[in-house]
Amino acid sequence: MNIYIENIKEVDCVCEALILPFTEGDSGLYAGLDSTTLKLIKKSFLKEFHGKQNEVLLIPAPENIKPERILLVGLGKKDEISTEKVRQAGGKAAVYLRDMGMSRIALSTGIISALRISPAYFIEGSLLGLYTFKKYIGEKDNKAIDAILVLSKVSKGLKDELHWTKTIASSVCFVRDLVNTPSNDMTPTHLANIALSLIRKNLSVKILEKKDVQKLGMGAYLSVANGSKEPPKFIVLEYRGAKGAPLALIGKSITFDSGGISLKPAEGLGKMKYDMAGGAAVLGIVKAVSELKLPVNLVGILPATENMPGGSATRPGDVITTIGGKTIEIINTDAEGRLIIADAIGYAKRFKPRAIIDIATLTGACSVAFGNEAIAMMGNDRELFDKIKKSAAETYERVWEMPLFEEYKEYLKSDIADIKNYGGKNGSLVASAYFLYEFADQIPWVHLDIAGTAWVEKDKPYMPKGASGIGVRLILGLIKELK
Ligand code: BES
Ligand code: MN
Ligand code: ZN
Repeated sequence: MNIYIENIKEVDCVCEALILPFTEGDSGLYAGLDSTTLKLIKKSFLKEFHGKQNEVLLIPAPENIKPERILLVGLGKKDEISTEKVRQAGGKAAVYLRDMGMSRIALSTGIISALRISPAYFIEGSLLGLYTFKKYIGEKDNKAIDAILVLSKVSKGLKDELHWTKTIASSVCFVRDLVNTPSNDMTPTHLANIALSLIRKNLSVKILEKKDVQKLGMGAYLSVANGSKEPPKFIVLEYRGAKGAPLALIGKSITFDSGGISLKPAEGLGKMKYDMAGGAAVLGIVKAVSELKLPVNLVGILPATENMPGGSATRPGDVITTIGGKTIEIINTDAEGRLIIADAIGYAKRFKPRAIIDIATLTGACSVAFGNEAIAMMGNDRELFDKIKKSAAETYERVWEMPLFEEYKEYLKSDIADIKNYGGKNGSLVASAYFLYEFADQIPWVHLDIAGTAWVEKDKPYMPKGASGIGVRLILGLIKELK
């Protein structure tokens, strides 16, 4: 898909559909339109179109102008306008036109710019909304938007914004592809190969094999891999764009979570292919950072494995030893995410990181609490919290802070090991984070539970149902602000 900025009048824009955004009840004025077209729009206004949030109306354009059709799209009330509403309108409009069979469309930026919002938000919504996953469908419908013309003065500022938007949106879609891919194809080996394909001058990738992680003593990670025939792959990416200590990003990369010996019930089990959404997000973040050549250092860590039952699977009651030496009693083999992340945190410490952020589809309790709407955030560093919250507001990848009361330590007391991996249903969201907290100890660390947000059950304006690619925009927004 191509995005062009063109400094021409709306009436001179050759396209199948021209998108005109409007706030509610305000038929506004588009200076680049002629009086015939303006009259035509006025006719529809307050009858079949009101400008309500995400409302759309497609009308044929008059003969005397170049666009073939006009799409009115609503932004909602003027005093309630936000970048997110513009993003949503962008998704809604583009998807609507694609489904109508259009391929070359244009956006008039007059009203959005007058509201002091960059048209890049609209385009972001369009790019994210137009995502489809048709890899496994033989009959393709070939409906696709090929080009969006942004009608605006050409400036370096807007060019840069659109470049950033395009790079990030394509990373989000890359992540969605990985997460939507079924587990029989998306094995740890496949994930490792995808990581290797990202190698560039500023980005190195290495894969630790089973024997390597055995030598390092990652007993927690290996205990999860035990039951599977698929070899585990511990994936490490290093991006160098600056001096100083790196930020370490850890992504839970369970390519299928059956629960292991503590087998999950059958219902909805196929969705557990998404249990590598954290790892996929980390790959997407590192990919975008390396394409944008951002001035930071990053380490990306993806402890990839399946969690399967099998003759050599770890049993409830077993005790295992982590890379840092702490022992864990396995109460439930389905609480596997915290095990692989515990070893990944231990491994990350070798890089003396300035901070560690882990992203994981860690608990069912997270989706129970927040539905598809928020990431649960826990950690030990107020400054990082604040920065992440700021990015959350900007990107609308919303986070909600949850507590790590010291009382949760009790929940994880084991009779025979240093800690146990599950403390029961009560407080399972916070206790899982407390478990990780015990491994992060002194290092500034934040845990993001994306179990509720990584997969959306219903289409949203710029998120078709399925994998959402959550975390990419949030963390890139944070990295952009890191000094
Ligand atoms: N990958 C799951 C988290 C999950 C479960 C996400 C359901 C979305 C829906 C994680 O590994 C898990 O199984 N967590 C369990 C732990 C418990 C049974 C020990 C959970 O939270 O239910
Ligand atoms: Mn599990
Ligand atoms: Zn899991």
